[in-house]
Amino acid sequence: MPHIIAREYKKIKTPAQRDGIEFLWFAEPLANASETLVCAKHENIYFLLTIKRKNGNFIIKSDKTTRPTPSTIVKKALKSFCSLAECDVIYSNIANIKDRHLEEGSRFLKDIWFFAQNFPKDKEVWIEIGFGSGRHLLHQARQNPDILFIGLEIHKPSIEQVLKQIKIQKLDNLYVIDYDARLFLEFVPSNLVGKIFVHFPVPWDKKPHRRVFSKRFIKEAKRVLKKNGILELRTDSRNYFDYAMELFMDEPRIHLEVLKNIETVVRSKYEDRWRRMEKDIYEIRMINDEVSESLILKGSFDFEGGLNVRNIIKNFSNRPIKYDEYFIHFEKLYKISEDSILIKLSFGAFDRPEHLYIIIDAKGAKYFPRNPVLSRLNLKAHNKIKEMLYGKQSNSSTRS
Ligand SMILES: C[S@@+](CC[C@H](N)C(=O)[O-])C[C@H]1O[C@@H](n2cnc3c(N)ncnc32)[C@H](O)[C@@H]1O
Repeated sequence: MPHIIAREYKKIKTPAQRDGIEFLWFAEPLANASETLVCAKHENIYFLLTIKRKNGNFIIKSDKTTRPTPSTIVKKALKSFCSLAECDVIYSNIANIKDRHLEEGSRFLKDIWFFAQNFPKDKEVWIEIGFGSGRHLLHQARQNPDILFIGLEIHKPSIEQVLKQIKIQKLDNLYVIDYDARLFLEFVPSNLVGKIFVHFPVPWDKKPHRRVFSKRFIKEAKRVLKKNGILELRTDSRNYFDYAMELFMDEPRIHLEVLKNIETVVRSKYEDRWRRMEKDIYEIRMINDEVSESLILKGSFDFEGGLNVRNIIKNFSNRPIKYDEYFIHFEKLYKISEDSILIKLSFGAFDRPEHLYIIIDAKGAKYFPRNPVLSRLNLKAHNKIKEMLYGKQSNSSTRS
């Protein structure tokens, strides 16, 4: 993880800019927080750097919730910040900043807004979830130039490795997104996808709520798959296989193919490893034989007008609140200026929470660095968050 350790730094006057990175404001810890935050902006990407005291020094790194990809952006921001703030650096691991990666990333690395605002619909789409080394994804993209591939991954080094390969192999039919697969399908139009590959997902035996597969995931997969489209699960975990089978069998109607130790055209890195160890490999293919209704999502994540910042500070509680289907957790509170604050929070579905911030001032409030995903439970949670902040009932439409 890119970071810098400094003996001292100067609090710069914001806004400030250096080498393509803007620094817009500082946020100081008020409740339940110990680190200072700095809002950074690279092109249209907003993110936070954290400055934390440790053993008499300051560790400066990127905030996990807002961390952008590629990590080159973070490295650039750290370097620019330290130059502006005249950091007395005693350790740094950001020596090699390769701008080339930014260029490689910008074309094929897409953020969620690219898909949320105007999902590409002119070609059949195939999706791979958790592509890891990308061996299978890159092979499929090479073999099927008329298909648009979308690769989802949350491990940044894997993303950067695949972005490099896209360039080296001169592929132009593969987008990569750093996004949690449990949320992504909600953005995909109905009946568009030919195949969804989930190969060797993390089994999460001790934390099953973190698994990619869930009842909801199967429902969404059915909706986005075109007629005869396939959801393909491959795993070495008998536990995961049994768990997925149980979920499939809970569906009112299902068409499955179950395979064991079948030779595949291309073996992923994990598959190679498990085969060398002579482990059994299980595969379930769900063939979708239904046409789904179009996706209709309505609602907004707006806030309604000014808020009393002092009251919010006075009443701040970091106790998580659980409702029937969702939760809200105001985690930390920061002060940006006399009349503006920042809240770090998580909320939404128990198995697919949003982790975001809210910036609040006398004129209103907004989520940072982006709005939540438009989902039924996020809208419900948003309504409740408004009630909590405004101290009154508020209305906003939800998906029926
Ligand atoms: C065990 S590896 C398998 C990688 C690859 N499919 C293979 O077969 O070699 C699982 C991958 O899924 C990714 N992953 C885990 N949870 C995810 C999620 N919710 N959304 C997207 N990717 C995820 C991990 O970062 C990891 O790279």
